[in-house]
Amino acid sequence: MVETLGRVLVVVPTYNERDNLPMIVERIRTALPEVHVLVADDSSPDGTGEVADGLADGDDHVHVLHREAKQGLGAAYIAGFRWGLREGYDVLVEMDADGSHQPEELPKLLEALADGADLAIGSRYVPGGKVVNWPHRRELLSKGANLYTRVMLGLPVRDATAGFRAYRAATLEKVGLSGVESQGYCFQVDLTLRTSRNGLRVVEVPITFVERTVGKSKMSGKVMSEALWRIGLWGVTGLPKRLRGGHHH
Ligand code: GDD
Ligand code: MN
Repeated sequence: MVETLGRVLVVVPTYNERDNLPMIVERIRTALPEVHVLVADDSSPDGTGEVADGLADGDDHVHVLHREAKQGLGAAYIAGFRWGLREGYDVLVEMDADGSHQPEELPKLLEALADGADLAIGSRYVPGGKVVNWPHRRELLSKGANLYTRVMLGLPVRDATAGFRAYRAATLEKVGLSGVESQGYCFQVDLTLRTSRNGLRVVEVPITFVERTVGKSKMSGKVMSEALWRIGLWGVTGLPKRLRGGHHH
């Protein structure tokens, strides 16, 4: 199945994840020995970047992108995707470092791509999808964000903020990354919207999201307010024309 899709790169953004990174890389490498991993680290003060270098030293399927400063999840993914496209990967996967996205469920996402999806989203909010160990207020926040997104944008997607995804390289090339300004978690909604507006096929696959047991979430007021105003703006104005048909990147 992975064979027909070509080369797969899993991009893992990290900020202060030194105690999670070895676990997630090991699980990815065991679940899917063919795929490559790119850690996109924003110069984490806890030394995650050095841990990543250590993992890459011992494994030619592991790569590291060191970024200068904390610039947000979206910015880290854009840099990681650009690296992967340049290196000729055919599929680009998004996965958190903290174990919330289970590498063992990645084959389901890849199967959806093989079946014709242009973007496969690991969804918590389609039948069969679940969240384990989230505090009530975090669940409300996530459901509220998805409701807000659906009302503002009318996207036919249940979990538009999900961070476990697989994109065909061709999808990212068609959508174009150069116009993407979202820095934080609203990057997820941004790319879902662009993919959908380009007439590409978005498929949701049920997954179980398991809240982290080690380290801390980087969700913040800044992340939330960026999502609120950007999604509101996209809803009110529609995507600016330059973002709609773009092939530039
Ligand atoms: N390089 C980099 N820079 N990595 C970051 C940054 C950043 O500024 N912010 C977060 N990350 C990394 C974390 O280290 C982790 O590996 C991953 O991105 C997800 O961050 P978390 O802080 O664990 O996210 P979360 O659990 O609160 O949110 C999850 O659910 C959201 C939807 O409800 C993520 O999957 C989000 O992507 C998703 O939108
Ligand atoms: Mn998390």
